[in-house]
Amino acid sequence: MSAHLVVVGTQWGDEGKGKVVDHFTPEYDLVGRYQGGTNAGHTIVVQGEEYKMHLLPAGMLHKGMTCLIGDRVIVDPLILVEEMEALDEAGVLVGELKIGNRVNLIMPWHKLRDGIAGGKIGTTKRGIGPTYTDLTNRRGIRVHDWLDEKRFLERVEEEVAWNEELIPALMRLHDMDDSALEEMYESEVLEPDAVVADYLDALETLQKFGVEFIDCPWFLDKQSRAGKRMLFEGAQGMLLDIVYGSYPYVTSSHPIASGLQVGTGFRARDLKVLGVVKAYTTRVGHGPFPTELTSETGEKLREIGKEYGATTGRPRRCGWLDLAILKHAVRVNGLDALALTKLDILSEFETIPVGVSYELSGKAISEFPASLQVLEKVEPVYEEFAGWQEDITGVREYAKLPKAAREYVEFVEEQIGVPVELIGVGPGREEVIER
Ligand code: IMP
Repeated sequence: MSAHLVVVGTQWGDEGKGKVVDHFTPEYDLVGRYQGGTNAGHTIVVQGEEYKMHLLPAGMLHKGMTCLIGDRVIVDPLILVEEMEALDEAGVLVGELKIGNRVNLIMPWHKLRDGIAGGKIGTTKRGIGPTYTDLTNRRGIRVHDWLDEKRFLERVEEEVAWNEELIPALMRLHDMDDSALEEMYESEVLEPDAVVADYLDALETLQKFGVEFIDCPWFLDKQSRAGKRMLFEGAQGMLLDIVYGSYPYVTSSHPIASGLQVGTGFRARDLKVLGVVKAYTTRVGHGPFPTELTSETGEKLREIGKEYGATTGRPRRCGWLDLAILKHAVRVNGLDALALTKLDILSEFETIPVGVSYELSGKAISEFPASLQVLEKVEPVYEEFAGWQEDITGVREYAKLPKAAREYVEFVEEQIGVPVELIGVGPGREEVIER
């Protein structure tokens, strides 16, 4: 067994990574995140209760577990506090949280800018893109700035002055009118003292919860030398990766496995890469989606699969499984194994098509294309499978799955050359089949 595990999404996010991570957590000493921010949405069901987490690692629901928010995650302290207080009230906040001191903070102006410019992409409006823009533009505010009150005030003042110029210009570029501009000027969101007060309050609350701010590479190296086993959970999915996803309809981070190293400063030497794939495909936000079903069948998948965004509540677009995407995911992530989730959602379908490749003007395309203009035009080539049409949520042994369900699983494995080691057959923690 490898010392460390990274769990990544192989599609457009929402593959059910939270549940997979939760399943494996008891085998590890630390659970961490390495990218993304409050755009993520893990839904975990424990003893019938549903918990939604946007920023905290799912490991926070496991007693005494060391949980990490790594350096390339971006943190909105106000939402982090809300999330911790809600879990604490429910009595399930039982992990110990560490936050890297190089983490960039999501600030109010990032959310405003996302509200102005994120519409075209269909972002979550949580300030993700603008925060990463400021990070690479070398004007981010990081945790070590926040921990130094005087420096924090100075940095907030500088950024407020900058954003007071930038935001109206952005609004004009996006054809927003003067009344919206006036509202923006009046908003106390861009008052440095108010921002500093809110963020320092949040810091105090986090410290009361025992949150520690750490040097992430040093901390993980120390854990590794002490023989600790670590599990890292990717947020979003490969097709939302800023380089390897369906650019520009992507997020601003690296959800892929190699995001781990750049996102924590830790090179895990003995690492297993587990890709999570939903038994069909979904996406939120805009952009091409070759196997999308705009028919009643898509509606049926959405209703049975409860496909509504955990972060924004938006209905997810639904379609059949697309193996061209999975093959891309195998290479980009270097997948060692797969977890196939939500197989039970397919139980009610008479036939189940699987996209095996694409065609463009009669020519076969076997790879997921770099160009969105190509992706928009491809037609999926399907292979059809017979459905099993029986309830599989109680099944815990692979051999007891209906033959048609096993054929579906084995076809996926055979096509992409990676074993399916875990199968999700229901939303609960225990509703899985291990192979
Ligand atoms: P952003 O991450 O808010 O900038 O949004 C960029 C794109 O990524 C949009 O299409 C979002 O809907 C999508 N996105 C971001 N986070 C998630 C997620 O956790 N699941 C699914 N889609 C996501």
